Amino acid sequence: MQAERHILITGGAGFIGSHVVRRMVTRYPNYRITNLDKLTYAGNLENLRDIETLPNYQFIRGDIADPVFVMELFRTHRFDGVIHLAAESHVDRSIIAPDDFVYTNIIGTVNLLNAARAFWNKDQGCRFHHISTDEVFGSLGEAGYFTEQTPYDPRSPYAASKASSDFFVRAYGHTYGLPYVLTNCSNNYGPYQFPEKLIPLVINNIRHGRPIPVYAQGQNVRDWLYVEDHAAAIDLVFHRAVNGATYTIGGNNEWRNIDVVRKLCALMDQKLGRRGESAERLITFVADRPGHDYRYAINSSKIRQELGWAPVVDFDEGLRRTVDWYLDHTEWLDHVTSGAYRTYYERMYAGR
Ligand code: NAD
Ligand code: DAU
Repeated sequence: MQAERHILITGGAGFIGSHVVRRMVTRYPNYRITNLDKLTYAGNLENLRDIETLPNYQFIRGDIADPVFVMELFRTHRFDGVIHLAAESHVDRSIIAPDDFVYTNIIGTVNLLNAARAFWNKDQGCRFHHISTDEVFGSLGEAGYFTEQTPYDPRSPYAASKASSDFFVRAYGHTYGLPYVLTNCSNNYGPYQFPEKLIPLVINNIRHGRPIPVYAQGQNVRDWLYVEDHAAAIDLVFHRAVNGATYTIGGNNEWRNIDVVRKLCALMDQKLGRRGESAERLITFVADRPGHDYRYAINSSKIRQELGWAPVVDFDEGLRRTVDWYLDHTEWLDHVTSGAYRTYYERMYAGR
């Protein structure tokens, strides 16, 4: 049995955060897990329906970019660990409205760092784990991989905001001795991902017979990782890494976007029994994303060698699980697309 701890998970109502919350709450019954989330468009408490009544879990609605609120939260709760996932996460939105990304991803992170610094005693085994992205490293050509040594070269407003927050985390470690660990991960996919991101967007559009928008010619490359494998990596790094460590995490699983879309079309044809009129007819090549990074690929040998992590879900299995999950949870998808999910907090929590 693990010792008692009180861990703050930010952004736990989002895609990856909900998997991390579920894992921590169920694997570590001795931990108290507080999920802090503002419930932006991307936050959905329906993601946590199955664990929300567990005694070691609580939800608090709040904005990490509000410094007074964050300081007061730390004063009241005395967390001894933070797993920080709350962020604006969608590159296309960052191109339209970069300020939101500065607000949450940079100012929000600095507020959390200030509060941790104010209330943490260095010797108590406290730890701040910042969940970051491979996009801070920029774009690769046909060859090469990002590693922990790759210089930063963020190229979208989203990537710039995450790079900035990474630098602040390291600066607080270096200047004030704040105990931190940092992970930069590649593209995640799986259940509960908001259908603005490529894989759930394709599944949902096929479901409704809508066009599948593929940027440019679909030749850009991403390294896909099943979300539960990322949650397992976060668990390992949070518990076992040394202070100040960074790990790059990826699936060693590179695909061109068009090939991912074609795989999804084939799976959906099979599941929906629409073989005669393949979903491929819905593929529509549209204008490219401005500044679209060509290729991301991660060398994750450090976490594999030092902590023994390896992804366990291969891409075909992960895509099958993901398609099955979305088709079995059409109510979840419909609530997201209709906006009904946004009333869950008022219905279930506001009166408590
Ligand atoms: P998401 O958009 O699904 O969820 C983000 C969550 O943060 C939402 O629940 C939202 O309500 C919450 N949030 C946003 N602004 C907030 C604020 N000001 N205060 C409190 N809560 C706020 O994101 P995701 O895809 O789950 O990503 C989670 C983290 O992992 C992010 O930090 C992202 O940069 C990082 N990451 C994501 C991926 C990926 O492929 N999705 C890969 C690597 C790293
Ligand atoms: O690499 C990690 C990053 O992966 C995370 O830090 C981000 O939070 C996460 O959103 C993701 O960023 P991407 O921009 O790579 O993911 P997205 O799903 O938006 O797009 C994946 C690829 O598909 C990308 O090359 C753009 C392309 N695309 C995307 C959409 C939404 C399309 O061709 N059409 C689309 O409609």
